[in-house]
Amino acid sequence: MAAENREVLVKADHVKVYFKGKSKKSGTVKAVDDVSFEIMKGETFGVVGESGCGKSTLGKTLVRLLQPTEGEVYLEGKAISQLKGNELKQVHKDAQVIFQDPSASLNPRRTIKQIMMEPFEIHNIKVDNVDARILELLNLVGMDEYHLSRYPHELSGGQKQRIGIARALALNPKIIICDEAVSALDVSVQAQVLNLLQELKEKLGLTYFFISHNLNVVYQLSDRVAVMYLGRIVEIADYDQLYANTAHPYTKALLSAIPQVGGEKSERIRLEGELPSPSNPPSGCHFHTRCSQVCDRCRQEVPVMKEIEPGHFVACHLFD
Ligand SMILES: Nc1ncnc2c1ncn2[C@@H]1O[C@H](COP(=O)(O)OP(=O)(O)O)[C@@H](O)[C@H]1O
Ligand SMILES: [Mg+2]
Repeated sequence: MAAENREVLVKADHVKVYFKGKSKKSGTVKAVDDVSFEIMKGETFGVVGESGCGKSTLGKTLVRLLQPTEGEVYLEGKAISQLKGNELKQVHKDAQVIFQDPSASLNPRRTIKQIMMEPFEIHNIKVDNVDARILELLNLVGMDEYHLSRYPHELSGGQKQRIGIARALALNPKIIICDEAVSALDVSVQAQVLNLLQELKEKLGLTYFFISHNLNVVYQLSDRVAVMYLGRIVEIADYDQLYANTAHPYTKALLSAIPQVGGEKSERIRLEGELPSPSNPPSGCHFHTRCSQVCDRCRQEVPVMKEIEPGHFVACHLFD
């Protein structure tokens, strides 16, 4: 996958998303803190990091379910953070989200058919033959016509997630944010849904922003992977670069915890201490309190992203 000769679909430019605390004492949560990257058309851009590091906030900001506090998001070159009305609606049509919990995203009182109609209703889209389109979508995700009269509670977790995927596909989106899309499913069902997502991507030429706290899952699908830690991206690389040539100490720790993708079993690197609070992150490099290679500079200076080999970026003072 030569990313360099393909078009940029989404660009995040110094995006910050801050949440003000409820009281003065609770402070500001810097959920996303100065993040920049590009997603190419047709690629799966994976994002991995511990719970609370800002993955979902970033995903929502890319599709304007949230507005950035600072910085800008571009979809096909167009700045989206200030869009309103019909232009915003268009973004919400072009960029779809598949969430972790399929039960929560499907209205329990509606049949699968009614649920499948929703995208067409919301966007007031007249399709010549909606029934045929819905059947086509069901076929794409491996479901049958008889499921249309069922209610969500009559489906398995995997089937519900297939309906979530079918609904996300209804309006031919340009990008789909998969936010922990398989994390709630049993491992065997996870594999099926991941295969389906891969198949759909190839068949329909989709682009995914694929979020998971589980590097193993991200690895199965991603062309490139960004590693997040406390609101910042610490490393971005091609799938194979990331584990053949792991650069950031945090990525090394994440990888060492999963021997399956590491090939030869490397020594397990334990992360020292607890994940700090995003409302009171450590100074300098956010990772310095847990890093085995910390030096004075890390405590003071925020490391900037450097390209250490073509397409491989890392934010760490070890590479200055
Ligand atoms: N709407 C919100 N208001 C206040 N804080 C939020 C909100 N959404 C997320 N956060 C906080 O922002 C941080 C990042 O959250 P999130 O993006 O959900 O992380 P992840 O998806 O990586 O688990 C967390 O500390 C979370 O508590
Ligand atoms: Mg999340």
